[in-house]
Amino acid sequence: MTHVGRLEGKVALISGGARGLGAAHVELFAEEGGAVVFGDVLVDEGAALADRLGERGLHVQFLKLDVTQADDWAAAVDLAVNLHGRLTTLVNNAAIFSADGTQDVTQETFRHVLSVNLEGQWLGMRAALPALVEFGNSSIVNICSVYAHLATPDAVAYHASKGGVLIMTRSTALEYVGRGVRVNAVNPGAIDTLFAGSATPDAGAISSVVPLGRSADPREIAHASLFLASDDASYITGTEIVADGGWSAG
Ligand SMILES: NC(=O)c1ccc[n+]([C@@H]2O[C@H](COP(=O)([O-])OP(=O)(O)OC[C@H]3O[C@@H](n4cnc5c(N)ncnc54)[C@H](O)[C@@H]3O)[C@@H](O)[C@H]2O)c1
Repeated sequence: MTHVGRLEGKVALISGGARGLGAAHVELFAEEGGAVVFGDVLVDEGAALADRLGERGLHVQFLKLDVTQADDWAAAVDLAVNLHGRLTTLVNNAAIFSADGTQDVTQETFRHVLSVNLEGQWLGMRAALPALVEFGNSSIVNICSVYAHLATPDAVAYHASKGGVLIMTRSTALEYVGRGVRVNAVNPGAIDTLFAGSATPDAGAISSVVPLGRSADPREIAHASLFLASDDASYITGTEIVADGGWSAG
């Protein structure tokens, strides 16, 4: 039986797509029939991924995108619209981690984390929303974190950024609820990625806090975004999917 992709007709813009969870989104969204434009500061890795996926016949295009730069976002939205005539989907994925406590984090680092993780998502939504409204059956997925709900010591800027992402998501959802754009968050727990700046997950530590006993394959998280980005989620806005192996259930 022929697989009917759940994103047929969609055009998605994905930030931080060169590696990790973003790359899993790029691959899965394209496999599901979407046309994908993705950006990252890692230019060589992004271009190589686009080449690999292009060789499989998938519709992906890479460009350099620093999510802290409004001009980069404008160029990314323009590229998607010029290539495909529309933009239907935004996945705000790019983020950085900082393992610093309240006294130790420098003001420069605090601002940088907030700039990439929170301001970057706002800039992405601001740039994409006119095209998303024009299409009228659109979706934004903001990648958040279980750390928006669960506090840990020594990651104060990261927690602040992800807490901000969650309430920003709900606010924008309410603002655009009558204009054809759904806005939701995905809150992963531990993922098998080399998340820059974070400690390499220790399998023993993960199994002691995650009831499912393991960290997630990035595709397991991307499937939550896929659902929110698809028309199957047509009644869902202003909320979140927690994909954390039960971590926050207890
Ligand atoms: N890894 C985890 O355990 C975990 C847990 C919860 C949430 N998350 C979230 O998942 C998302 C992806 O994280 P990951 O684990 O794949 O990390 P990662 O470090 O593997 O990938 C992040 C990507 O974002 C890119 N990026 C960083 N700064 C950027 C900028 N200024 N502009 C554009 N791109 C930039 C990086 O180059 C990289 O390709 C993030 O939002 C993160 O907060 C990760």
